[in-house]
Amino acid sequence: MPLIKWDESLSVEINEIDKQHQTLINLLNLLNDAMMTGKGKEILNKIIIELMNYTKIHFKTEEDYFDRYGYPETLSHKKEHSDFTGKVSEFRQRYEEGKLGLSTQIMTFLSDWLKNHIMGTDKKYTKFFKSKNLH
Ligand SMILES: [Fe+2]
Ligand SMILES: [Fe+2]
Repeated sequence: MPLIKWDESLSVEINEIDKQHQTLINLLNLLNDAMMTGKGKEILNKIIIELMNYTKIHFKTEEDYFDRYGYPETLSHKKEHSDFTGKVSEFRQRYEEGKLGLSTQIMTFLSDWLKNHIMGTDKKYTKFFKSKNLH
């Protein structure tokens, strides 16, 4: 059973970006399912690799739009992205060191990101990009 279902409350009203956000939600659900069946640890390597790919592509998409349209909150937004990227590198390091409890930590981290960044920081640009006719 998926933990999070996509709905309009998650939309930033830009199709390309919504699709990328759905990728993150899929990863979150994948990890959740694996943990429910006791397979969290087995799937962690895949999750971490996918997260690294995700950050590279997704953050670049958002940041290119910020730069192109002169989004006023670019700096603080980029800072949250680089913190996320740093955290993923840390998870990778901890995975290689074989640390315990990593699945739960990543799960909590991704849920918080969804709530605070995607539904908070990301949603702040919806109005701005709409005024630039981006959708
Ligand atoms: Fe985003
Ligand atoms: Fe963002």
